[in-house]
Amino acid sequence: MPVSPLFDALARRRSVPARLLTTPAPSGAERDALLAFALRVPDHGRLQPWRLITIEGAALTIFAARLTERLTEREPDVNPARLDKERACYAHGALVVAVVARVDPGHARIPAQEQLLSAGCVAYNLLLGAQALGYGAQWLTGWAAYDPHVAALLGLGTGESLIGFVHVGSITDEPAPAPRAEPSAHISAWTA
Ligand SMILES: Cc1cc2nc3c(=O)[nH]c(=O)nc-3n(C[C@H](O)[C@H](O)[C@H](O)COP(=O)(O)O)c2cc1C
Repeated sequence: MPVSPLFDALARRRSVPARLLTTPAPSGAERDALLAFALRVPDHGRLQPWRLITIEGAALTIFAARLTERLTEREPDVNPARLDKERACYAHGALVVAVVARVDPGHARIPAQEQLLSAGCVAYNLLLGAQALGYGAQWLTGWAAYDPHVAALLGLGTGESLIGFVHVGSITDEPAPAPRAEPSAHISAWTA
């Protein structure tokens, strides 16, 4: 089978857990190119139902502290190990991109599901772009992506929701290989 570099990269796609990321994160023109590439997604009706919020540098330190405070507020008896795990996800100091869906549920032609899927593609493109540039990345949601206080902290408006946080940074250690789907378990041919 002929192999192209793009196909090869897709075949090797994998996430790198946020706790295995560090600085440096993409910066300057490389960072801008990564973010611009992320928006090059299928988009029925060209609604552009998404936007990105970057969280980096000092802002990331503050954001991580706010998340910890909020988790403690939500769960006053939160297990210290859980708090540590939460902190570890954001301690890399690299780049976090909040991917926001801006779905118009009453659109005359494009169902809300399609708009949401387009936003999901933005997050996925960030993963692919980061890997193509030699960085590691992971798409995380956790409780924070669904918490109204976190949404307000990020300045989300009516109709906006968080698709997740894509963490991007340099890789400190190779992740353990993840189990991959067995194609035959998920693919079937329709027959008339
Ligand atoms: C929408 C979405 C949300 C996710 N949220 C989390 C999360 O909060 N925590 C987590 O450990 N993994 C989460 N994951 C899974 C990881 O991003 C990643 O897919 C997983 O670690 C497996 O790695 P792989 O991408 O190499 O298969 C999420 C994935 C998706 C698509």
